[in-house]
Amino acid sequence: MLLINPNNWTPQVIDMFPVVVVHGGAGHIPEDRSEKSMSGVCSATRAGYAVLCGGGSSMDAVVEVVSQLENSPFFNAGCGSVLNVRGEVEMDAMVMDGKTLGSGAVSAVRNIANPIQLARLVMDKTSHACLTAEGAKKFALSEGVPEVPHESLVTEYSRMRWTKNLAPGSNPVEYQMGKMGTVGAVAVDAEGNMACATSTGGMLNKMEGRVGDTACVGSGGYADNLMGAVSTTGHGEAIMKVTLARLVLFHMEQGQSVEAASDLALAYMGSRVGGMGGVVTVDPQGHWAARFSSRQMVWAAAQKDTLHYGLYTGEHFTQSLGAPL
Ligand code: GLY
Repeated sequence: MLLINPNNWTPQVIDMFPVVVVHGGAGHIPEDRSEKSMSGVCSATRAGYAVLCGGGSSMDAVVEVVSQLENSPFFNAGCGSVLNVRGEVEMDAMVMDGKTLGSGAVSAVRNIANPIQLARLVMDKTSHACLTAEGAKKFALSEGVPEVPHESLVTEYSRMRWTKNLAPGSNPVEYQMGKMGTVGAVAVDAEGNMACATSTGGMLNKMEGRVGDTACVGSGGYADNLMGAVSTTGHGEAIMKVTLARLVLFHMEQGQSVEAASDLALAYMGSRVGGMGGVVTVDPQGHWAARFSSRQMVWAAAQKDTLHYGLYTGEHFTQSLGAPL
């Protein structure tokens, strides 16, 4: 593929290896859920990589990955979302296309199985960047997106956590900090186009109508073919204060590698506003990173027929993508 360096307009020809990098949320994953979370992220990553290998775009790949994670009860997105203070599911999602800088988002949406697909429809079919609540619902109906029963998005686990947080003396903020969620993906396709997608049920016991970082361009994600793509996870209010996704890319613009830029941005969020989180990052050459400041983040990446995955800091397993699941 041909890359144009915007600083001196000298075309560079480089080898491009398509890549998809996925996270299933930063925080603390209870022991009895970690295996299922890991296998869910690995299988969604394989699906995203298959899209790329079949000639699909980076946008097709990240939407496929995030849809699969939304359909799993083991993640805080789609079915499995945490509940707001009224015991209801309200979800945020966003996509961004690194070629056009077009983006689409939905916030505080209910009764939708795959908010990420609705976010893509906002990008593709409207002249807006974000639709919220009732307006998003009307748009979904007009596009033939089926309404699903609220109960189909609520798991026993999310109901249990909600109830626990209503107990006298509980501290929902502290509890949430240890058990965050959110799912997301970034990808570079064979043409060098990048995309990001992020989806979440938000914060446990959040106020009704609360919109988090995930729906906000630059916070929940960012993609620009000239710089890279990032999807974030963690404490939404902290992420918004530092526009975490864009901050990672700022450091890459300054010449930092994907790993260093991700670490610098996360460290700044920690020291400046006390926020924890994680990111998955790619650059135009297909270098990638999965970094986090929380105790755990379930992540996986697929490139050059190899699956990479891990859960704790420093953990990095690999497997051939030809190997059986
Ligand atoms: N990062 C997800 C949220 O706080 O809503």
